[in-house]
Amino acid sequence: MRQPYIAGNWKMYKTVSEATALAGALVAAVGRETGRKVMIAPPFTALHAVREVLKGSKIVLGAQNACAELEGAHTGEISLRMLRDAGVTVVILGHSERRHVYGETDALVNRKVKLALAEGFEIILCVGETLDERQKGVTEKVVEGQTRGGLEGVAERDMGRVTIAYEPVWAIGTGKNATPQDADAVHSFIRTVISQMDGAEAAQALTIQYGGSVKPDNVRDLMKMENIDGALVGGASLKPETFLPIVQFDR
Ligand code: 13P
Repeated sequence: MRQPYIAGNWKMYKTVSEATALAGALVAAVGRETGRKVMIAPPFTALHAVREVLKGSKIVLGAQNACAELEGAHTGEISLRMLRDAGVTVVILGHSERRHVYGETDALVNRKVKLALAEGFEIILCVGETLDERQKGVTEKVVEGQTRGGLEGVAERDMGRVTIAYEPVWAIGTGKNATPQDADAVHSFIRTVISQMDGAEAAQALTIQYGGSVKPDNVRDLMKMENIDGALVGGASLKPETFLPIVQFDR
């Protein structure tokens, strides 16, 4: 059985005081949660402060991106060493906003993935097609390319620290979520790709999150699907009133 894994991607929202207030409310409500894994990824500037709030709780601290180099002349970038220093253990990589707004390629995402795993982090690798790609019927081709491209050269023994998030770009922040059946079909396809790459056991053990307009009122139907193991939540993770019911969805 794969443990449900609910993650909040706060994107470019929350000052330090807003972030610590939200983290505090989450710790009070679900800080002892044992039946499911909970992660939050605040903006870089709030990581140190949120780490203090999370201390002693089971909520895991994540980052939204990392540089593909450990240090050097990379103005404006944040390294994995800095993230470790801030208490981060999980890094989201290849988010569609990084790919489509900031031009990250599969090759760059792959360098980040390999470095993060070599540095001992867990990762969430995001994959997903645009509306245009879905309409052209190339969803599987795109998702397979991003999965194989992102994980190229990753050893099977490291797959235990890899989560994949399927986030159809057309469903992010739009209120249009994929139907549970559509999402499950893509999740099942991702599992098949991983099975070809790393074997059936690794594929069965892999946690695959769905992301894209996950809300309190649709989480339950999504989580009922065989291949949907969790959620990567954007907008609804910014308030306790909407994130807590997602974390505490009832099966
Ligand atoms: P929304 O939940 O706001 O659609 O965002 C999803 C997302 O991009 C999470 O990484």
